[in-house]
Amino acid sequence: MRLFVAIALPHEAAGELDEVVAPLRPAWPDLRWTGRDAWHLTLAFLGEVDEAVITGLAVRLERAARRHPCLSLSLAGAGAFPGATRARVLWTGIQGDRRELGLLAASAGAGARRAGAPPATSGRGYQPHLTLARCRAPADVNPLVGALGGFAGTPWVATEVHLIHSRLGARPRYEVIGTWPLRNALGS
Ligand code: 2AM
Repeated sequence: MRLFVAIALPHEAAGELDEVVAPLRPAWPDLRWTGRDAWHLTLAFLGEVDEAVITGLAVRLERAARRHPCLSLSLAGAGAFPGATRARVLWTGIQGDRRELGLLAASAGAGARRAGAPPATSGRGYQPHLTLARCRAPADVNPLVGALGGFAGTPWVATEVHLIHSRLGARPRYEVIGTWPLRNALGS
């Protein structure tokens, strides 16, 4: 099954983002926009994982989460991969405890590797982002990056990590199959 490890977006943060993104979508119908229900911050993309390793994976992710503190995060601005002029992905950025977020992502990836589910992303630097849209062909999204440049969402505290099952289709469907608290979440 296709899996990834992620931090969820609280309802309020998603609502604020949706308020600025929704008015932009109609003028850009060629982009494949992500919906607010699917918004998340990926920590590690594992790709296809054998069901036999999931029990071990859960143990490793629980241990990784426990080693890292809760994180103060917020959404801000926008950018594109690989760049705004020939973009494949339009994203909004993450501010706040970015260094700790990177350390958590590294731990989640290392735990997954030890469980026999190595991240498909290893080797690439971790660039925290939330994907807003994917381009069918490279597109100049400079106007969108500009329009979202001033966006600054209200900070929230992330207290847990999720293991998510992704089912691909016209719209990918995501199902949380495991949740583990970060250190100091709910007194843990
Ligand atoms: P993205 O947001 O940058 O597109 C579920 O698909 C999550 O896993 C998404 O957040 C997506 O990242 C990430 N993902 C999917 N395929 C990936 C790949 N081949 N490499 C890295 N991340 C991937």
